[in-house]
Amino acid sequence: MLSPDGRVVMVTGASGGIGRAIASSLHAKGYSLSLGARNMDKLDNVIANYDKTRVMTHAYEATDAANNKAWVEATAERFGGIDALVNSAGMGGSVNLEDDDESVFDALWAVNAKGPMRMIRLSLPHLRASGSGRIVNVSSLSGKRVINDGTGYAMSKFALMAISHAARRAGWEDGVRTTAVCPGWVNTEMAASAEGISRDTMIQPEDLAELVNTAIALPNNAAMAEMLVNCSLGDMF
Ligand SMILES: NC(=O)c1ccc[n+]([C@@H]2O[C@H](COP(=O)([O-])OP(=O)(O)OC[C@H]3O[C@@H](n4cnc5c(N)ncnc54)[C@H](OP(=O)(O)O)[C@@H]3O)[C@@H](O)[C@H]2O)c1
Repeated sequence: MLSPDGRVVMVTGASGGIGRAIASSLHAKGYSLSLGARNMDKLDNVIANYDKTRVMTHAYEATDAANNKAWVEATAERFGGIDALVNSAGMGGSVNLEDDDESVFDALWAVNAKGPMRMIRLSLPHLRASGSGRIVNVSSLSGKRVINDGTGYAMSKFALMAISHAARRAGWEDGVRTTAVCPGWVNTEMAASAEGISRDTMIQPEDLAELVNTAIALPNNAAMAEMLVNCSLGDMF
């Protein structure tokens, strides 16, 4: 496994839910972190007890290309490089195939697909320079199969799966490895309205964070393209 010492990881959506749990476990293991969020007060709260000598924060808005570029540049300048990118930020949204309001489709596309795609594009030169760059995209089992009416969300996560596999190809020769993590229900705000399942039977964000840690720490010759993770018996493909 690769050592966390001196390795720099960017995490989007680090102010809450899965992103916050990922940041916490990466920090505990000793990585240097560049954490992005919309709500900087929430993010300041997250890092209150972190070692600030190896942590920076930056505003992150998935739909704002100039903001994304500024964050990647600020991270490379502060730490001298970038070794991993975790795309955790994402939105839910209920819109189905026969819904004629396309605004939710557009928002899901912008945040869940174009946001991670742009962050990958901007950080790839730094990840290639690392020699063991890592990309972890928090996708979903909704990016693997369609089992409900959430067509828009599933479309955006299927797109993220395509982006993940494109990133595997683009970075391979330079040691960049990409993993798509595909969970079922995770106990966060996004799952607050889930029916028929209790919060404690969902996947816990801390457990998912351990899997993300593993994806970042595995050596170049043990690449894991997808991780399908569920809390109940159900279709995985
Ligand atoms: N929870 C689940 O059951 C589940 C299952 C499968 C996959 N996922 C995926 O896991 C990822 C994390 O979700 P979560 O469960 O941790 O939900 P969450 O607690 O609602 O967190 C979502 C995160 O995404 C950020 N975000 C939303 N829109 C954004 C935008 N336009 N620009 C920048 N950041 C934005 C949020 O920031 P703010 O705090 O500023 O809103 C928040 O940090 C998402 O990609 C989600 O699709 C979740």
